[in-house]
Amino acid sequence: MNQPRPLVAGNWKMNGLRASVSEAEALARRLEGNKTVETQVMICPPATLVALLAAALDGNSILIGGQDCHINPSGAHTGDIAAEMLADAGASAVIVGHSERRADHGETSKAVRAKAEAAYRAGLTAIICIGETEAQRKQGETLNVMSEQLSGSLPGAAVSGNTVIAYEPVWAIGTGLTPTLDDVGEVHQHIRTELTGRLGADEGAAMRILYGGSVKPGNAAELMAVENVNGALVGGASLKADDFWGIISVYSGR
Ligand code: PGA
Repeated sequence: MNQPRPLVAGNWKMNGLRASVSEAEALARRLEGNKTVETQVMICPPATLVALLAAALDGNSILIGGQDCHINPSGAHTGDIAAEMLADAGASAVIVGHSERRADHGETSKAVRAKAEAAYRAGLTAIICIGETEAQRKQGETLNVMSEQLSGSLPGAAVSGNTVIAYEPVWAIGTGLTPTLDDVGEVHQHIRTELTGRLGADEGAAMRILYGGSVKPGNAAELMAVENVNGALVGGASLKADDFWGIISVYSGR
């Protein structure tokens, strides 16, 4: 079975001002000059920069994503952003269910599924995040939690063309800690089995499963080499073009 094309997506979180566009432009130049890199690259900037980055990178292969969306296409929802607005601003994807949204904004898997459906409605790819807390891992609950979050968050209409799964252990995000390679492999295999059970062998194998949580240039190669890891969702190390490039270029000339 062919491996899906790897995706490395940078999640800038609540970081980035207009000056940060130059980092994205520097990255675009690197990609332009390194045609052997097979990675699909995406940047998910704060909403204020989506249109700006889309314009700056127009004609380049870097995709733009949002970090969250509301379930409705418009309406009286102060401070929220519709998937349609992200699409209109030039995004082709949106992250939904990031653990920071689940924890800080009380987003349930049911809410995450509705957001993913909103993404489809707007023609966006949904990057659906799942991941266990430290306590859940210590209690040996990781695989159960993955099954629960997947079945709760994944819409019935999910296919490999409109959905990417990101496995992000909550305790590994922004901490410099990562699971062992065996643990990453175990969880990704479990997610793969769930996906093939749900979507059938071909679609289940084609859906990309990203690893996220303290991915850095120094550990990207070994993490990305784990079976069923089809790329990365990168926070801190995506903010500087040099660091992000160190992760993206792992997929060069393999
Ligand atoms: P990190 O964040 O790479 O800074 O750990 C990952 C994420 O939250 O997507």
